[in-house]
Amino acid sequence: MTDSGIEAGGTNLSEGGPPANAHQAAEAPGAPAGDEPPLVRLSKVNKYFGALHVLRDIDLEVRRGEVVVVIGPSGGGKSTLCRSINRLEPIDSGIIEIDGKRLPEEGRELARLRADVGMVFQSFNLFAHKTILQNVTLGPIKVRKMNKAEAEQQAMALLERVGIAHQAAKYPAQLSGGQQQRAAIARALAMKPKVMLFDEPTSALDPEMVNEVLDVMTELAAEGMTMIVVTHEMGFARRAADKVVFMADGQIVEENTPEEFFTNARTDRARDFLSKILTH
Ligand SMILES: Nc1ncnc2c1ncn2[C@@H]1O[C@H](COP(=O)(O)OP(=O)(O)OP(=O)(O)O)[C@@H](O)[C@H]1O
Ligand SMILES: [Mg+2]
Repeated sequence: MTDSGIEAGGTNLSEGGPPANAHQAAEAPGAPAGDEPPLVRLSKVNKYFGALHVLRDIDLEVRRGEVVVVIGPSGGGKSTLCRSINRLEPIDSGIIEIDGKRLPEEGRELARLRADVGMVFQSFNLFAHKTILQNVTLGPIKVRKMNKAEAEQQAMALLERVGIAHQAAKYPAQLSGGQQQRAAIARALAMKPKVMLFDEPTSALDPEMVNEVLDVMTELAAEGMTMIVVTHEMGFARRAADKVVFMADGQIVEENTPEEFFTNARTDRARDFLSKILTH
């Protein structure tokens, strides 16, 4: 077993060199973080699209290693929330901090902080004209200045991990949706992000491919990755989430444990929403 360089390179996805992430091994995911500041903090965040007030005074804290599932009706602002966390959308007021640092407006510092936030979208967003391997090595080589051999070794370890190492030389169109989404997860992880955002990562997939993607995400969560996941997959939420955030009309209406949220939601708005999604 030890003759494999990939294995020797370590297959723990949250490994980014021993000192930086050592706490993740010592601390159970979602365990109280003591005095440690939250990894992601939003305070009084407001965002408008013209006259439409899409994010209303959003306060949200995500601790290191915590998995937060965001759920709620269409148009409620879930995608806008994700996009504003890595500044794909500028906000109008409020504060967003990643690991204690406020998101800068623009420039090199923004590019660096943005690289700390991995994002996986509903549509896979892979570069169509590049192979799976090239998709996963591009960011590390261009942004992290990793040399090609090292980037490829890391990419193969990640592709192995998400179960598609044998597809490395193929182009995205030659893969199934589930495989493409797993490649997208490997690509995001290759940047060694501090937090991963998933915006409905399984909703464009055929049903038989949903679980292969959720399994990869569940494993990531168990390894201590900090995650914000927009999804209506309740099995995943119950299995992996520390906290459910229910969002409607641009507001966080309820924050709860998954168990409480799905069986005994506090707000009428959440109960109404759940009654609709649970009956089909
Ligand atoms: N670029 C944009 N320009 C104008 N309005 C937008 C833009 N993006 C989103 N919106 C509007 O902002 C509101 C929130 O949209 P958002 O996509 O964040 O909702 P969502 O909760 O992710 O919904 P869904 O569950 O359908 O994905 C919606 O009313 C939407 O129409
Ligand atoms: Mg959305």
